[in-house]
Amino acid sequence: MYLEEGDVAEIGLSSHRIFDASGQAVERPVHVSTLSNESMELGEYRHYMQKEIFEQPQALADTLEAVCYSQSLVPGIFGAEAAAAFSQVDSILILACGTSHHAGLVARYWLEEIAGLPCSVEIASEYRYRVSVANPKTLVVTVSQSGETADTLAALNHARAQGHTHTLSICNVPESALVRLSKLRMLTRAGPEIGVASTKAFTTQLAALFLLTLVLAKQRGRLNEEEEQRHLHDLRHLPSAVQAVLKLEPDIARLAENFADKHHALFLGRGLHYPIALEGALKLKEISYIHAEAYPAGELKHGPLALVDQDMPVIAVAPNDALLEKLKSNLQEVRARGGELYVFADAGTRFHSGEGVHLMQMPEHAGYLSPILHTIPLQLLAYYVALQKGTDVDKPRNLAKSVTVE
Ligand code: AGP
Repeated sequence: MYLEEGDVAEIGLSSHRIFDASGQAVERPVHVSTLSNESMELGEYRHYMQKEIFEQPQALADTLEAVCYSQSLVPGIFGAEAAAAFSQVDSILILACGTSHHAGLVARYWLEEIAGLPCSVEIASEYRYRVSVANPKTLVVTVSQSGETADTLAALNHARAQGHTHTLSICNVPESALVRLSKLRMLTRAGPEIGVASTKAFTTQLAALFLLTLVLAKQRGRLNEEEEQRHLHDLRHLPSAVQAVLKLEPDIARLAENFADKHHALFLGRGLHYPIALEGALKLKEISYIHAEAYPAGELKHGPLALVDQDMPVIAVAPNDALLEKLKSNLQEVRARGGELYVFADAGTRFHSGEGVHLMQMPEHAGYLSPILHTIPLQLLAYYVALQKGTDVDKPRNLAKSVTVE
């Protein structure tokens, strides 16, 4: 039974009662779950987080199913009214919290570069209390794994109260409050995520946001047939590309041993991969309790370089993209201060392991989809560092899976 806003349920061994917000006893319809037992069982894995990291190829394939079997992209994947709504939109506002907010930060690069739409991304708990200037032509996109995060729901209500009418949610739970509140929706099909640290929900959110970008770009005449087919091809290849990255697991488990006695870590990325550095830092602090921060590498010299010494591991996300040479010179600044580097580099980037440099070679460069691939080793790193520290990986202290209170 899905509870309505304000409902309270009293559950006994053989009975239940539900009261609505005014205290009246009410009945809510029963829905029979289609989830298989298997999807809730640990199977061969030690923790749900590990299982969920390894489920990513399938979760991505399921999320992309409708698109991958079709020959072209259609707005209908976001709802029957999507085409009409998208044609009126001139900008995007993404609202989310935590990991879902990081997905929004990646999407901003895609939406501006590929679809040519101005995009802002706000932390829902801040937006809900901010006096902002509403543009009725903005598409408000809320992103949430659970669809029950109190701040994200309040931010959506705040946006609507300010006059925003175009609303879209990207969510992993079909009947959630967020989905019910939004006019348009795209469901990620990651399956239940039990570990508090979000993994497969994040990469499937990225896949959904990339689809949104492509659909908007096409509708705005910014995607020709050849480009559309190339993007569809890359999306079809994505699950096997993720599978290839997962093979790094044993190497990352070894690397994680170096973090057992560390108290701080610095994550660096640039451009599209700066949000991935943020996500890597969040994963590490959330489950290993190591203090971690992320910076766009070009910001190092504006402050954080002062923190770098031999006790500060510096983790760099190093895709083979246009900012590679800039990133390399940023990393030289770290080495010159004695910082120990852990570089997750694409093939062809010509990084070498050596004194103070630990190289983790990624199989390929995935272009616009690269942030999805670069997320995987950082999830594995956080997981194996947490094992070193002996923390409760699936239920880290002080945190809840769904943050339904303010
Ligand atoms: C991520 O690992 C966190 N547990 C947390 O930041 C989470 O992403 C955030 O609370 C938002 O949750 P939601 O996606 O369900 O809205």
